[in-house]
Parts: sequence; C-alpha cells; structure tokens
Amino acid sequence: MLSAAPRMQRPGPGSGDTFRLRSMQIGIIGLGYVGLPLAVAFAEAGCEVVGLDVDAAKVEALNGGRSYIEDVPSEALAPLGERLRATSDYPDLAACEAVILCVPTPLTDSRQPDLGPLEASATALAQVLRSGQLVVLESTTYPGTTRDRLLPILESCGLTAGSDFHLAFSPERIDPGRTDFTVRTTPKLVGGVSEASTERARQLYGQICDTVVVLSSPEAAELSKLLENIFRSVNIALVNELAQLCDRLGIDVWEVIEAAATKPFGFMRFDPGPGMGGHCLPVDPFYLAFRARQLDFYPEFIELAGKINQAQPSFCVERIERALNGVRKPINGSRVLILGVSYKGGVGDTRESPALKIIGRLQDLGAEVVYHDVFVPELPGHGLTSVGLDEALRSCDLAAIVTAHPDVDYQAVVAAAPLVIDFRGVTREIEADNLVRL
Ligand SMILES: NC(=O)c1ccc[n+]([C@@H]2O[C@H](COP(=O)([O-])OP(=O)(O)OC[C@H]3O[C@@H](n4cnc5c(N)ncnc54)[C@H](O)[C@@H]3O)[C@@H](O)[C@H]2O)c1
Repeated sequence: MLSAAPRMQRPGPGSGDTFRLRSMQIGIIGLGYVGLPLAVAFAEAGCEVVGLDVDAAKVEALNGGRSYIEDVPSEALAPLGERLRATSDYPDLAACEAVILCVPTPLTDSRQPDLGPLEASATALAQVLRSGQLVVLESTTYPGTTRDRLLPILESCGLTAGSDFHLAFSPERIDPGRTDFTVRTTPKLVGGVSEASTERARQLYGQICDTVVVLSSPEAAELSKLLENIFRSVNIALVNELAQLCDRLGIDVWEVIEAAATKPFGFMRFDPGPGMGGHCLPVDPFYLAFRARQLDFYPEFIELAGKINQAQPSFCVERIERALNGVRKPINGSRVLILGVSYKGGVGDTRESPALKIIGRLQDLGAEVVYHDVFVPELPGHGLTSVGLDEALRSCDLAAIVTAHPDVDYQAVVAAAPLVIDFRGVTREIEADNLVRL
C-alpha cells in the first residue's frame, strides 16, 4: 500500500547534486496547450529549452517567433531568443538534463484510453535516453501509467529507472484562459518511482513554481489529477440535472444557485451549461473507469456524471425546439445562430465542445445553422465558417448563447435578435420577452 501525507515544500536548495536551472537544458515533448506555456516558463526562468513536436507547422511557427496558443502571445517569445527552440528530432533531446512529456492522452473511438501518442514519444525518447536524465510525464492519465506503461518502454534502452535515470509523474493543472493563477503560483504535485526521482522532480519544478507538493508515488499523483477533474465533472452534472428539474418546476435555476452560493461555508458554486467540453473533463473519467474495470470495480458515480453531462446538448436542442415552437416556428427550416462554439469562453479550442453536438443535431433536424465565434474562424467538420454578428443577429430566427466569450454585449444581442436562448446565464440582468434561459 502506497501512503504518505503530501509534503508541501517551498523550493530551497536541495542536498547533493541539485539542478542548476540557468545552465540546464530542458526538453519538452508536445508543444500544445500544456507544453508550450511550460516551455516558456522554463525559458523565462533562464534555462535552455528544446521543444519537440511531431507537428512541423508548430515547430516552424515557434522558430519563426509565432505562437498558436491564446495564453502565450507571440510577443512573449521574442525576448526568449535562442533559449527556446523547437525541433522534430529526438536526438536534439540527448543533451537535456530533464525531459517532460506533454503529449495528448485522448480516447479511442470506442472510448478507451489511447496511449498511442505517449507510447510513440516514449519509444523515440528511449533511443536517445542517457544516464542521469530525469523524465517527467505531465499528461493526464490513469494511475499506473508511469510505472506500468512508460517505464518499460524507457528501460528498453538498457538503463534502469530510479537509479540510472529518474522518472516521475507531475500532472499539469493549467486552465487555459485563466490569468489569476499562473505556472508559478499554482502548486505543483510530484511523485517519482524512487525517492531520488521524486527529489529530482521537486528540484526541477521548484525553480519555476512557488510551491511543490511531494507525493509518495506516481500513482498517487496520477489519481490526484483525475480526482480534481472528476470533482468538477460530478458537480457540473449535479447542477445540469438541477437545471433540467428546474425547467419542469418552472423555477429559475440561476436564482437558486446564486442564493445557495451566498452560504459562506460548505457550498462551492458550479454553473449549469450546454454540457462539458475540452480535452480533460469529458475524457478523464473514462481513463479512471478503464483502470477501475480492470480491478472489477465499477465507479458508478463517475459514470453517471459523464452520462448526465453528455446528454446536456440534447436537452439544449430540445429547449431550442420548444423556444421556436413558442413563436410558431418548426426547427426544420429555421435559421439558428450559435454564439460561441469553443468549449469555453476566451479560447479557440473546440475539442469535445458541446456546441458541435448541438450544431450537428440541429442540422440533422433540418435547421439552417450559422455560427459566430471570433476565436474559431471555421468548423470544417460541419462545413461552416464564422459569420458577422450584426447581420446574423438580424437574419436569424433564434440566437443561442452556447459559449460566452468575454467582451460580448449581450444587451445588444437581445435587442437585435428576434429570439434568444441563453445556456450560460450571462443575460441574468436582462428582462425581455424574446429571451429564455436554461
Ligand atoms: N489543455 C488543457 O487544459 C490541459 C490541462 C491539464 C492537463 N492536460 C493534459 O495534458 C496533455 C496534453 O494536452 P494538450 O491540451 O497540451 O494537448 P495538445 O493537443 O494541445 O498538445 C499536444 C501536442 O503533442 C504533440 N504530439 C502528439 N504526439 C506526439 C509525439 N509522438 N511526439 C511529439 N509530440 C507529439 C501534438 O502535435 C501537440 O502539439 C493531455 O494529457 C491533457 O489531458 C491538458
């Protein structure tokens, strides 16, 4: 049984051969929403960063000083100069003291964990792994992945984890679009396959994070990350279900949530919406459920939350249908404007976005769907490109607020469109006959 209370540590000089960041080379594999901000954080702290990605367009963009992630403005890359360079060649990682894996951990078509990108990157890394290096996995995954899946691939090079090279898991906690917590101010969890590996990881992150929390094992760190995301999934499911009940009861769910949130203790606010999106919340519960099933355990709570959240886009389509019915219009042939198609406000990421399910279902029902999203210029899978807002508001039969991006004047939206349905609660201060809310 692996157990120990997590140790919160303010970074200080470690004993023995500590990392010295300024002279260090760090490799980051996978330069996406997680890897690129991390690469920038290490480069800003003064170390040499080699970023590796299989996507040649990303490598070219970064080497040309252009960012493709909203949270990393291109202007932030210029001052880094040669301290951040991108490559697609694994041998370029051989000189790095630490290599951090930030590759995707998606699901297969049959909703099983897809460790293909992780195994491919680990196999390539094993070819260049050398004694003394630290390898850290940051990708979200089920408990046991670091030790049971990653370690054997890396050890195929003939070196032993925990002694010849170091291996740890440290989950990424980034929340794209958030500015109140940064890489530095968000505590970092680390759990290594040996004490030496844990200490190495603590030293590494201690140089870019104010607080490092040491766990007893990679498994505990892997499960901690899943708990954080599943906690959100379960609570979002609770308020989504409440929204459906409030619809039947004729009670305003937003009023109820705001009232409950005035309690200064024992309640944490979550808001209902059109469903869950993004790379994490809709995906991670399947990772834990997969591991649990291997142990003859069926995590019903987690799966129920996923089921409720996945059904929310269908409920939203039903609400659109009813709203149109209220003005004597069938969904078939109506022009429906979707406002916001990314999975959350302020970002252009459409992975698992509930808006895509809503659009697909409306198209199936014969609606003429258009959308407006300044962060997402096109949706090739649906044959759509973002349309101008003013004309679209005037010409639609109904406008549905699916994703609330910042700086949108919802008063003007309600004034311009014949009928508005708000799935995000951003029109709570507005009273109008042509407005309905979740
Ligand atoms: N996006 C988030 O908000 C977030 C937050 C916390 C944790 N995570 C987790 O972090 C991991 C990465 O997520 P992301 O959002 O950064 O994904 P992403 O798709 O934005 O980036 C992953 C990058 O890895 C590259 N890649 C794929 N296979 C590769 C390979 N074999 N070798 C090298 N590069 C490869 C891709 O080209 C891509 O640029 C996932 O496990 C995710 O669950 C994501």
